[in-house]
Amino acid sequence: MLNHSESGEIRILAIESSCDETAAAVVVNGRDVRSNIISSQIDIHTLYGGVVPEIASRKHIEKINPVITEALKQADMTLQDMDAIAVTYGPGLVGSLLVGVSAAKAVAFAANKPLLGIHHIEGHISANYIENKDLEPPFVCLVVSGGHSHLVIVKDYGDYEIIGRTRDDAAGEAFDKVARAIGLGYPGGPKIDKAAREGDPESIHFPRAKVAGSDYDFSFSGLKSAVLNYLNSCNMQNIPVNPNDVAASFQKAVVDVLTEHAMIAIEQTGMKKFAIAGGVASNSALRESLEKACAERGVAFYRPSPILCTDNAAMIGAAAYYEYLAGNFSGYDLNAVPNLKLGDR
Ligand code: KG4
Ligand code: ZN
Repeated sequence: MLNHSESGEIRILAIESSCDETAAAVVVNGRDVRSNIISSQIDIHTLYGGVVPEIASRKHIEKINPVITEALKQADMTLQDMDAIAVTYGPGLVGSLLVGVSAAKAVAFAANKPLLGIHHIEGHISANYIENKDLEPPFVCLVVSGGHSHLVIVKDYGDYEIIGRTRDDAAGEAFDKVARAIGLGYPGGPKIDKAAREGDPESIHFPRAKVAGSDYDFSFSGLKSAVLNYLNSCNMQNIPVNPNDVAASFQKAVVDVLTEHAMIAIEQTGMKKFAIAGGVASNSALRESLEKACAERGVAFYRPSPILCTDNAAMIGAAAYYEYLAGNFSGYDLNAVPNLKLGDR
């Protein structure tokens, strides 16, 4: 069944639909992105202040075929040129995941190509390989998305050790909830990032939570409550709130904690390479802070371009290449696994 292209290239059609982006990409040899099509549903979900799962699934169904067709077209290739079809099968919203998984299975079966089920977070981490052709494991990676906040040691391709995780809210979730509370709306992360540029990060002191017994674990729910308490107390005392100052001070608290924990991980593991991944990794203040902290320690800092930090299929194609090399193929009975853990297959 393995039908490498004559050029020796391994060409993968990758599909991603775990949340509210319908995406497909063609990636050659894991790092050469020939197309990266993303159809975002942000406009629809903005009306409701967050992702509505039922609407997300329906939109994925509408968009999945056009997005796959466009990805092949922009890559100037056909389905028959592909060596494998890869798809995110978890974690994520089950109805959303199922659309991508069903489409990938249908395409793989019809074209008689192998199928690769890919972990969404493995995809986020692998986004770093695309623009950094020299990056190889081992390295430390901070994964910060809407659903995850992990400090991971990437020991090898496909071999991960999670050394820190959030005890409550994910970093992106905290951004989204605080944005809603200060009236910035959805999606919160980019709006706070923008508002914070006009605010003073030192104007309000919000707590930097420590988790007892762990240098690496995160907790963001206390910070979120502190912001809500601040807003309530201003409201009760008729003190005007400056949303830009709240955004900047909140963002600084998140960035300080993420930077501090990441640097402890670097110091304690002795690793000289550090990468970031996930939607929150596109945050400008976080990127600046980590860049500076890494430079001070002589550690190489890797970060994907913002478009490769948020959900996309190119990152799934990058991860899939290494799973392909390892022979980790999926059966046509592949199912969506909404709470899939990193390292599970
Ligand atoms: O990785 P992602 O696209 O989807 C998940 O896998 O969850 O991450 C989405 C999260 C959202 O919470 C969004 O608010 C956050 O990433 N985000 C940001 C920024 N851009 C997206 N957070 C902070 N600053 C940003 N610039
Ligand atoms: Zn994601």
